[in-house]
Amino acid sequence: MEPLQAAIQKARENRLKAEKAAEPAPDPVHENPEPAEEASGPELQSPWAALKAFDPNARILKRHRIVAAETGNDAAPYDMLRTRILQLIRKNGWKRILITSPDVGCGKTTISVNLAASLARNPEIRTMLFDLDLRQPMIGKVLGLRRSNSLHQVLDGSIAFTDHAVTMGENLIVSSNLGPARNPSELLQSDHTAEILDQVEQTYQPDIMLFDMPPLSGSDDTYGFLRRVDCCILVAAAESTTIEQIDTSEQEVAAEKPVLGVVLNKCRYSENQYGYGY
Ligand SMILES: Nc1ncnc2c1ncn2[C@@H]1O[C@H](COP(=O)(O)OP(=O)(O)OP(=O)(O)O)[C@@H](O)[C@H]1O
Ligand SMILES: [Mg+2]
Repeated sequence: MEPLQAAIQKARENRLKAEKAAEPAPDPVHENPEPAEEASGPELQSPWAALKAFDPNARILKRHRIVAAETGNDAAPYDMLRTRILQLIRKNGWKRILITSPDVGCGKTTISVNLAASLARNPEIRTMLFDLDLRQPMIGKVLGLRRSNSLHQVLDGSIAFTDHAVTMGENLIVSSNLGPARNPSELLQSDHTAEILDQVEQTYQPDIMLFDMPPLSGSDDTYGFLRRVDCCILVAAAESTTIEQIDTSEQEVAAEKPVLGVVLNKCRYSENQYGYGY
């Protein structure tokens, strides 16, 4: 090789090496394998299989108290909650469940994600989990899901749901946010959002849609979205949520939609040792 050509070749190789080294670590999201033949009917296989698959890191899950991905003592209270919810929604023909609390930090996100993980262990149930706390979205963080796009971009029409949502295992779809939306209240109350959610429900045919929402205090985001769901779960934190707060929230929500129940979270002393009760 001529010296000049050799130098160009060497420079090209060095540049490629440098570009490769500068590439960000790959997101643990990857293309879904071909759908299993025995999955629930060909009409359901393709939309689910078209989504990217995500394998969460066990240490990240543990750090954020996501314990229901595997059967065991830690998952038991979430499995009990799952069973109670399934009984109620089947009896009433409900599908969309909103999860909120009177005040901040009661454990809504932790419970939403654990409940979804518990439901996902039931092969007969297809679950979709949506992060609709568009002010402080946390589902992506607790799962270690670093997608480059957000559910609020789907809702404002800038990206397609197919290019955004991921599957976790065979029967759970997760739709999260990378960061807050600029106009959460307007997005949540818009007819366009309602249409997109209807289309998503139509396409993926889930049995349950879980919506992790902001607390009732502080904004009208959750109240405004209540009309789009079938029922609601209230999460209260032992030692910080007052009976009056629970009572008022329950009455206000119940005026709009049925309250499936109040989950008392963060109990330090409880009969069942799980730090959690109804
Ligand atoms: N049962 C529990 N015991 C101890 N800590 C908990 C429990 N549940 C949740 N937490 C912790 O409490 C904090 C708040 O939980 P989480 O984010 O789930 O609440 P949230 O209601 O979604 O909050 P926000 O109102 O900000 O959305 C987190 O650090 C979480 O790990
Ligand atoms: Mg939250």
